[in-house]
Amino acid sequence: QTALMEKIVSLCKRRGFIFQSSEIYGGCGGIWDYGPLGAELKRNLRTAWWNTMTREREDVLGLDACILMNPAIWKASGHVDTFADLMRECSLTNKRVRADHVEAQAGTVLTYTGAQAPNGWRWDRAISALLKNGEHIESFRKRIRTLIAQNAGESAGKPEEIELLNETKGETLEKTVDFHPETGGALGEARPFNLMLKTYLGPTATEADVTYLRPETAQAIFAQFKNVFDSSRVKVPFGIGQIGKAFRNEVTPKNFTFRSREFEQMELEFFIKPDEAVEIISGEVAKWSEGADLSEPQPNWGWELWHRYWVDQRTKFYEGIGLGDVLEYYWQTPEDLAHYARACVDILCEFPFGTEELEGIAARGDFDLSAHQTASTKSQEIFDEELKNAAVKLTDEQKEALIQKRLAAEAAKVKGAPMPEAAVRAWFERLFKGNYVPHVIEPSAGLDRMALAVIAKAFNETEKVDEKGKKETITVLRLHPRVAPIKVGVFPLLKNKPELVAKAREVYALLKKHMNCFYDETASIGRRYARQDEVGTPYGVTIDFDTLGEKGPELLDTVTLRHRDSNEQERVKISDLLGKLLPLVS
Ligand code: GAP
Repeated sequence: QTALMEKIVSLCKRRGFIFQSSEIYGGCGGIWDYGPLGAELKRNLRTAWWNTMTREREDVLGLDACILMNPAIWKASGHVDTFADLMRECSLTNKRVRADHVEAQAGTVLTYTGAQAPNGWRWDRAISALLKNGEHIESFRKRIRTLIAQNAGESAGKPEEIELLNETKGETLEKTVDFHPETGGALGEARPFNLMLKTYLGPTATEADVTYLRPETAQAIFAQFKNVFDSSRVKVPFGIGQIGKAFRNEVTPKNFTFRSREFEQMELEFFIKPDEAVEIISGEVAKWSEGADLSEPQPNWGWELWHRYWVDQRTKFYEGIGLGDVLEYYWQTPEDLAHYARACVDILCEFPFGTEELEGIAARGDFDLSAHQTASTKSQEIFDEELKNAAVKLTDEQKEALIQKRLAAEAAKVKGAPMPEAAVRAWFERLFKGNYVPHVIEPSAGLDRMALAVIAKAFNETEKVDEKGKKETITVLRLHPRVAPIKVGVFPLLKNKPELVAKAREVYALLKKHMNCFYDETASIGRRYARQDEVGTPYGVTIDFDTLGEKGPELLDTVTLRHRDSNEQERVKISDLLGKLLPLVS
């Protein structure tokens, strides 16, 4: 799999998808530049997300906020105090690693059964990768922690080694780890390392001027929630979507663009009514059950159904860009969840280096808006006429029953302190008047990860033997036409026939206004097809002598349309070309 990743990285550089940033100066860790084809690919993915998530929906609006914001936002959101990884530094190698990578090595016996492992991954590979690189494998982190906890009693005081039991092969792999917990070992104390990139706003460059490059785009959406709501005549439920750069000073950036320090996020904050408001208006709260119809949102949906709805919507999105069959889902357990999250699912994707997170979809309650309301002292409440009218009709007993139900739920809370009764009653008082802070469902995707996922999924290599018996490796990127950077290659059969060239130029001019095309007249036609196959161009149009009517008038002004994946060729009228291609590529 490492070899496959190397081939992908090499293709990305050779054909202008992705370059190492500042390469001529030795690079810059965790920062990548997108070349001409990468820029187009990213743009296509960005457009697909934007259209699906905002334009084509009546209930989602767009936002384009700045990277720099008042640092009070990052204090209120919790990022200043808690957006940190625990890091250890090795005194021998000076290598910094995330502490949770190291914990996995601390005298623990890890056992693996094939059935537990996510698709394509084995503990032995995962752990040896951790040991070799001191690096992080996202989808294993939580499982490793759980296993360590389970084995803690058993392994205490044992020699510092990890025994990896590979049950699938029936062999026991043993690795002795150069790690000594009693002495502190070669790795220093774990210390928190804040992932936000600091900068200064203003001329004095003192602590008072410190702010941060945003580590997520989400907070700007929360900070502008009221402005969007007040200026757009929308009603809850509705969402605000945003695409933009985010920055994290990752301790160990790795796996090409997968974990970068500068990356792009595509985030939707979808604001919904609290379940109690739904209950007051609809007389009930519909809950999720297996097989529930998620196609059309309903007024009586509670947060759980909205959460499932967005998981379903995002799955459909990935199916639409050719990733449908490489997805997996990791539903966070109550122990995994952050204290403010009610549920969170990671959409995982099969990469050459393992099955890893592509997108997270969290149900965040009213945590974010309430945190900003408290910190800024500016109300984030909205007024809901329908709720007020429905609440007026409730009897005092019905109101008290709702309050008691909520108090019982608070008392049963697994995480976080229960809300005091007085606060619950004050909240209901506002709710019965039609006021509340909306709750949030957040599908949050990474554009760079998505680009890497589609390239990795599309990468296809075959061996071909030519007439002279020479072996050749053929690479085809089977990119979905919607995301492919070049949609059509336009080729005159021969470059030294002015009539062919003129006609090909005409076809190129016709198509390029509507899609990204590539005109190529050099080398044999087979070579030209191969060059486009390698960068994932789904269609090729060849202008030959038949186009000029040399074989008869019936073929005049027709071209050969070649399909990359099937290698099939069909004869198409130039006048039909645009109408045929446009729906296939957009
Ligand atoms: N607002 C929620 C949030 O930021 P996250 O899980 O930290 O959640 C969301 O990030 C998505 O952003 C991830 O699923 C991933 O696709 C992308 N992402 C996060 N960190 C990244 C990194 N260092 N490099 C590339 N993409 C990253």
